[in-house]
Amino acid sequence: MIRIFIGMLLIFTSTVTFAATGSIPLKPVLIDLNNKASLQRGAQIYVNNCLGCHTLKYQRYVKFIDHLSLSKETIENNLIFTTGKNGEPTKIGSLMLNAVNPDSAKEAFGVMPPDLTLIARSRGTEWLYTFLTSFYKDDTRPLGVNNALYPNVGMPHVLSWMEGLKKPVNLEKDQYQYIIKGTMTDKEYQKSMTDLVNFLAYVSEPAQLDRYRIGFWVILFLAIFSFLAFLLKIEYWKDVK
Ligand code: HEC
Repeated sequence: MIRIFIGMLLIFTSTVTFAATGSIPLKPVLIDLNNKASLQRGAQIYVNNCLGCHTLKYQRYVKFIDHLSLSKETIENNLIFTTGKNGEPTKIGSLMLNAVNPDSAKEAFGVMPPDLTLIARSRGTEWLYTFLTSFYKDDTRPLGVNNALYPNVGMPHVLSWMEGLKKPVNLEKDQYQYIIKGTMTDKEYQKSMTDLVNFLAYVSEPAQLDRYRIGFWVILFLAIFSFLAFLLKIEYWKDVK
C-alpha cells in the first residue's frame, strides 16, 4: 500500500514539475488525428518552414500515402524539396532529413536545431502550440525576437511572415500589439498552428491512427461478446434455484 502511495506521489510530482517548466500558462489545442485535411496542411507548413532546420529522422515521406491519404505524385511534387548528395531528388521512401551542418548551425543559433519527430510526446501538444504563438519582438536578443514560453530561445520567428510581429503589452496575460502585419489574421494563424501541432502529434506516434481504427473493432467485438456471454449466463443459471 505504502509503495503504491509513494509511486502515485512520484508520478504526481513529476507531472507538476513538468508543467511548471513554462513561464506562462499553456494554451489548449484541439488535436484531431482523423482530420486528414488538417494533417495535410500541417505537413505542408512543416516542409516549407521547419524541415530546413529540423529533421524528422524517424518519419518517411512514403507514409503520407496511407496516413495522410496523399498520392505519390502529390508528395513528390509538393512535399519533397530536398536533394541527395549528388543533386538527385530525394526518393519518396527516404527519411525526412535536411542538410544542416552542425558546426554552422552552432555558429548561427548557438545550438543545433533538434530533431522534432518525438517533440509532441516530450513537450506535449499544448506546449508546442503555446511556443509557436508566443514569439514577440525583443531588440535585446541577437535574432530580434524572444519567446514568452521559452525565454531567450535560439530560434528565429520563422513564421513571422504569416503571423506578423507583435510586441508585448502584458507578457503574463498574453496581451500583445502587432507592429508588423503578416499574411494571416490572428484566427487564421491560430488555425494554422493547430494544423502544424496536429501534424507533429501524428508524426510523434503514427501508430495512433491504426490504434483508433483497430480500437473501434475491438470495442465492437467486446460488446457483442459480452452480450453473448450474458445470454449464456442466463441459459446456464436458469435451472439453478
Ligand atoms: C532557421 C532554423 C530554424 C527553423 C527554420 C525552425 N527552427 Fe525551431 N529551432 C531552431 C533552433 C536553433 C532551436 C533551438 C533553440 C534553443 O534551444 O534555444 C529550435 C527549437 C525549436 C523547438 C524547441 C525544441 C525544444 O524542445 O527545445 C521547437 C518546438 C521548434 N524549434 C519548432 C519549430 C517549428 C515547428 C518550425 C517551423 C515552423 C521551426 N522550429 C523552424 C531553429 C529553427
